[in-house]
Amino acid sequence: MTQRIIDLLRNGQPNETVTVKGWVRTKREQKEFTFIEVNDGSSMAGLQVVVNQDVPGYAETMKRISTGASVEIAGTLVESPAKGQRIELRTDSIIVYGEADPETYPLQKKRHSFEFLREIAHLRSRTNTLGAVFRVRNAASAAIHQFFQERGFLWIHTPIISASDCEGAGEMFTVTGFDLNKVPLTADKQVDYSKDFFGRQAYLTVSGQLEAEIMAMAFSNVYTFGPTFRAENSNTSRHLAEFWMVEPEMAFCDLEGDMNLAEEFLKSVFQHVMNTCPEDMEFFNQRIDNSVLATADNIINNEFARVTYTEAIALLEKSGKTFEYPVEWGLDMQSEHERYLAEEYFKKPTIVTDYPAHIKAFYMRLNDDGKTVRAMDILAPKIGEIIGGSQREERLDVLEQRIQDVGLDPAPYWWYLDLRRYGTVPHAGFGLGFERLVQFMTGMGNIRDVIPFPRAPQEVEF
Ligand code: 4AD
Ligand code: MG
Repeated sequence: MTQRIIDLLRNGQPNETVTVKGWVRTKREQKEFTFIEVNDGSSMAGLQVVVNQDVPGYAETMKRISTGASVEIAGTLVESPAKGQRIELRTDSIIVYGEADPETYPLQKKRHSFEFLREIAHLRSRTNTLGAVFRVRNAASAAIHQFFQERGFLWIHTPIISASDCEGAGEMFTVTGFDLNKVPLTADKQVDYSKDFFGRQAYLTVSGQLEAEIMAMAFSNVYTFGPTFRAENSNTSRHLAEFWMVEPEMAFCDLEGDMNLAEEFLKSVFQHVMNTCPEDMEFFNQRIDNSVLATADNIINNEFARVTYTEAIALLEKSGKTFEYPVEWGLDMQSEHERYLAEEYFKKPTIVTDYPAHIKAFYMRLNDDGKTVRAMDILAPKIGEIIGGSQREERLDVLEQRIQDVGLDPAPYWWYLDLRRYGTVPHAGFGLGFERLVQFMTGMGNIRDVIPFPRAPQEVEF
């Protein structure tokens, strides 16, 4: 049976006979033998393989092997005489599945820029950095499920095609079955969606929250973790058109409970990743951002800062800094403001609560002051907003009023209003941008490099 290289590196014993399959990272030919480093993606480190001249077909095989070639190697583990690895593989036989012409294979030994690697996203996962990113991404995904499953949250699958704009921001992609060259029009020259596939306009979802609220009203605690889509034309290092979001929703929960859960959640996911991917995290600390390990330690061991929006604005006004965007009560915070608070002032994740109602979505619970809502954003150093959440408006009359105040038509939200008509309860939840979390953990500067196939304005391949 084929063994995973990570298991051999950790537990392999001298004299064990093993077979490994993977891709050649480096080949170093000596006079009488050749060193090959084979990587199968299970760990950052590859397995050092020694191929002696007496291996059948040696000369022929070595000609076919170069960086990127795929191989199967059977042999015996031996203690490595050299520094750098505990064990190595002494080869009995070697099969080349596929060559990788060194004249054209783009991933040769030298370091490539992330911009260049994005152009070859079909190959970049074979590099050290992207390999580490996707292992951390996997570990964080598993940790998220583990966290909620241990606490009895039901994992629900919210739809990707949706009829409603959860955030009310109008940043949605339309899903249509129309032949766009022959779109039916109504008498007043509007697109006639009644003739479309769904009989009305449908979209790619921006959030699973509204459906999660439905399910929380039956199962108390639920979460959804899936892709979400935003047609906002934000060409930044923190925005994608397609990103994954984790959204828990809790019945019988207020904002305090929501914040506590979010903080415990982030700590737990960081801890899990530190436990399962120590080599990858060490690599990020050494090669990408030398604050990665200190950040993880800070998250796990320190309480997050908590301030209201009103207090946060006062801190920004007192900061003595000149910001590009103005600071004034009532204005939305920009990334520079969020980063000042989390990075410079508190130096740790910062939870900002009770934002002005008019800059937040319609579903957030109105405070008694009539001006602010029970919202909370978690701001992370270097990233800015990583989580957005709130206690939801559970009072039917207040919610109806809010929907009207923000200029939305209440009719399509009839089912959302029904939840307030029948057995309404205080409830709360949040959404974590999963790629922003992976960026925060790994120190990767551009969000396009923490998702295998990024979708952003003017950017879709595969
Ligand atoms: O703050 P947002 O818009 O909140 C919601 O969608 C709520 N319905 C969540 C909830 O309460 N269930 O988005 C949540 C998070 C943000 O904090 C951010 O981390 C991430 O999603 N996010 C993006 N990540 C990458 N690219 C984008 N374009 C993003 N927009 C939001
Ligand atoms: Mg938000």
